[in-house]
Amino acid sequence: MDDNKELKNREEIDREKAEETSPAKSGSGKHYLTGKEVREIAKANAKEMRRFEKAKRRRVPESEYLTEMKDDGNILEIENLHSFFFTDQGVVKAVNGVTFSIPLNSTVGVVGESGCGKSVTSMSVMRLLQGPTGQIVEGSIRFKANDFKRDEKGNFIPVYEKDENGNVIQEPVLNKDGTQKLDKDGKPITKPKQLKDSSGIGVYEKEEKVFDIAKMPIKDMYKIRGRQMAMVFQEPMTSLNPVFTIGNQLDEVTLLHIPGATRSLAKERSIKMLDMVGIAMPERVYAAYPHELSGGMRQRVMIAMALAGEPRLIIADEPTTALDVTIQAQILELFNELKTRINGSILLITHDLGVIAEMADYVVVMYAGRIIEQGTASEIFHHPMHPYTQGLQKSKPTMKSNEEKLFNIPGNVPNPINMPDYCYFKERCDKCIGKCSGEYPHMVQVSPTHFVACHLYDSKED
Ligand SMILES: Nc1ncnc2c1ncn2[C@@H]1O[C@H](COP(=O)(O)OP(=O)(O)OP(=O)(O)O)[C@@H](O)[C@H]1O
Ligand code: SF4
Ligand SMILES: [Mg+2]
Repeated sequence: MDDNKELKNREEIDREKAEETSPAKSGSGKHYLTGKEVREIAKANAKEMRRFEKAKRRRVPESEYLTEMKDDGNILEIENLHSFFFTDQGVVKAVNGVTFSIPLNSTVGVVGESGCGKSVTSMSVMRLLQGPTGQIVEGSIRFKANDFKRDEKGNFIPVYEKDENGNVIQEPVLNKDGTQKLDKDGKPITKPKQLKDSSGIGVYEKEEKVFDIAKMPIKDMYKIRGRQMAMVFQEPMTSLNPVFTIGNQLDEVTLLHIPGATRSLAKERSIKMLDMVGIAMPERVYAAYPHELSGGMRQRVMIAMALAGEPRLIIADEPTTALDVTIQAQILELFNELKTRINGSILLITHDLGVIAEMADYVVVMYAGRIIEQGTASEIFHHPMHPYTQGLQKSKPTMKSNEEKLFNIPGNVPNPINMPDYCYFKERCDKCIGKCSGEYPHMVQVSPTHFVACHLYDSKED
């Protein structure tokens, strides 16, 4: 009898807990959604999704999304970004007010546990969120692009070679048989000599423009995606097309993004790129199919492909997670080298603190769709301030530690559909104070570069 009573109590407690944490909890206290509620949510979502999809497809002049950087030393500025998924269970606030910048020639690492919104942030920057459910609903993503300049007719403008006096050098115009072409008076015909890059492809004028990516119609993203900004994904096998050779896939990037590139010049360039990313016998790899390569080689090919459009920003989402430890180290070394070689910046997304420590100049720590701490790599690693960052540091395995069991942060991330009004980390935090049950903590600046969102660091007046 007593046993039954205890079981009943246990069931009641479990039911209460399920109701508290249920994805479907809708204020009524029950832990499921009725068919009617699901239909109502779907109807409201459909309206919102239609509105965002329409905005994505509209045709607008470039001036509508041209903007200015807040700090000219940055290549990317993300401000108050909100990216949501409109699901039948409710709205998943995957990225909920994220603000950070990527300075020129630097690596910014985004770290946080699974599901905290790292990939959704990077997908938002590339405008690759899966619509119609996934949408950027608010915020700006300012990107300093170095786009090809066009004349009034919309043509690219060649850069010409000049002599020491600043005069454009002329070169002879040849007939098909290689002889000099002459005009009707018998004088040799010449044309201005276009500057060529190291692969022999003609150089065209470029100009800096700042685009607000969040406001750009999707079809205009071709100006940026692949050319100005490229992405390296976690799993190279699924990112490469198995039915085309590596060369075919690499050439396509050059042919698509570099004006004036011919098939033979694209091949020359692709082989150079393969060589640059440390592939021995690049000619052989050029002719190979993806399945003939090892995981590390495939990831190098993906990096070569990202570099082919000469991007200013490379977004690498867990680029080494699918690789073994020695290959991981080589790929990270390659990224470090490339940053200086391409004179660009890297946004590195990972849940691996070791990778971040090795690579990043600045670190952004995300938790449940928000940034809870950010600073230089040294600030985050040597002086972590947020209890979550401190927990992450403690849970990192070290060679020196004699502990038998690794530290783990107890509990789970709150349900993304029903986020609380107070600090999202409260249920897992061992440093809670009275204020923590109040409003969500705002960002506090603790050094010129170090910011933390935790009530422990609120100033006295707050
Ligand atoms: N297509 C989708 N529909 C609904 N929710 C989604 C979708 N894609 C992502 N989410 C939700 O958005 C949140 C953030 O996901 P995201 O993929 O950015 O996590 P992450 O930080 O990259 O995690 P991981 O380290 O596992 O890659 C998660 O709660 C996830 O469930
Ligand atoms: S605000 Fe409070 S609950 Fe949140 S991390 Fe800081 S101390 Fe912990
Ligand atoms: Mg991810």
